[in-house]
Amino acid sequence: MKEQLEAIKQTAFEAVKNAVSEKEIEDLRVKYLGKKGELTALLKQMGGLSPEERPKMGQLVNEAKSNVENLISKKAEELKKKATELKLKAETIDITMPAKEQKIGKLHPLNTVLDDMIDIFQSMGFDVLDGPEVETDHYNFECLNVPADHPARDMQDTFYLGENLLLRTQTSAAQIRTMETRKPPIRVICPGRVFRADEVDATHSPVFHQIEGLVVDKGITMCDLKGVLEQFAHEIYGKDTNVKFRPSFFPFTEPSVEVDVTCSECGGKGCRVCKGSGWIEILGAGMVHPNVLRSCGIDPDVYSGFAFGIGLDRLTTTRYKISDIRLLFENDKRFLDQF
Ligand code: PHE
Repeated sequence: MKEQLEAIKQTAFEAVKNAVSEKEIEDLRVKYLGKKGELTALLKQMGGLSPEERPKMGQLVNEAKSNVENLISKKAEELKKKATELKLKAETIDITMPAKEQKIGKLHPLNTVLDDMIDIFQSMGFDVLDGPEVETDHYNFECLNVPADHPARDMQDTFYLGENLLLRTQTSAAQIRTMETRKPPIRVICPGRVFRADEVDATHSPVFHQIEGLVVDKGITMCDLKGVLEQFAHEIYGKDTNVKFRPSFFPFTEPSVEVDVTCSECGGKGCRVCKGSGWIEILGAGMVHPNVLRSCGIDPDVYSGFAFGIGLDRLTTTRYKISDIRLLFENDKRFLDQF
């Protein structure tokens, strides 16, 4: 039995010495010291020994067990340390390496200009509202004083989706929706996409953007309209920009005006962009027609108001000297990366 013990001890020592992984060490622990391990089995065999031999043998086996145990623990610790070292080495970060380039998204130029416009109007006390792009004939025309046979419908080539359903041709539809849900004093702007069956070229797109504005209160006059729009033009184009109000016509405003500003390309001398006139038209506006107020349940004898519709795309192309409106809609990265 002594020899057996010696043999087990030797193989155990050898095996532990050669072990290369923590798992292997764990297996050896089970193999020799576990409940069914070889050294444990030896202890169980001691029943066959004489009473004198039994304690001696017991002591030897126990000594062997604790030797193997110590060796295993030491080796296990050693392997663990090695593994940690390897792991740390593998995870070393080279802090001298150049960082990965982070691509940061940018605002589309239309959004940059829109944000500026919203800032300007909000600072004048306007709320920002949203309206649907798919509209009914009722909101896009009828309530805006444009009945079915009105020639003004020809001014705007409409995309119809059904008999009464259409893609809004103007954000003015939002005026009606606003007056239906809010009572004066009203001061809102409503930016959004509008659609017209226009021939596509450098200055026309079937999809473009307007910012509608509406002010309704007691005692609102043309002076308020001029003051607000002049202030707006000066904030967008700078104090030196001249602002010109030209008489015009819209069915839903009376009187109506169109507003021109000094051409930012040539400073008013006349160039290709302003077609030689020195002026750029940026918006239509006017005093809200009494019929429109009435159709929204607002008494035109008590209240008055003004409305305006600003072309966002024109403002953007003139600010950034973009020669073709189509560039705003193609989303070519090479173009967008310039802003
Ligand atoms: N809706 C008009 C257009 O699209 C602009 C406008 C808005 C004019 C509000 C007057 C008042 O041309």
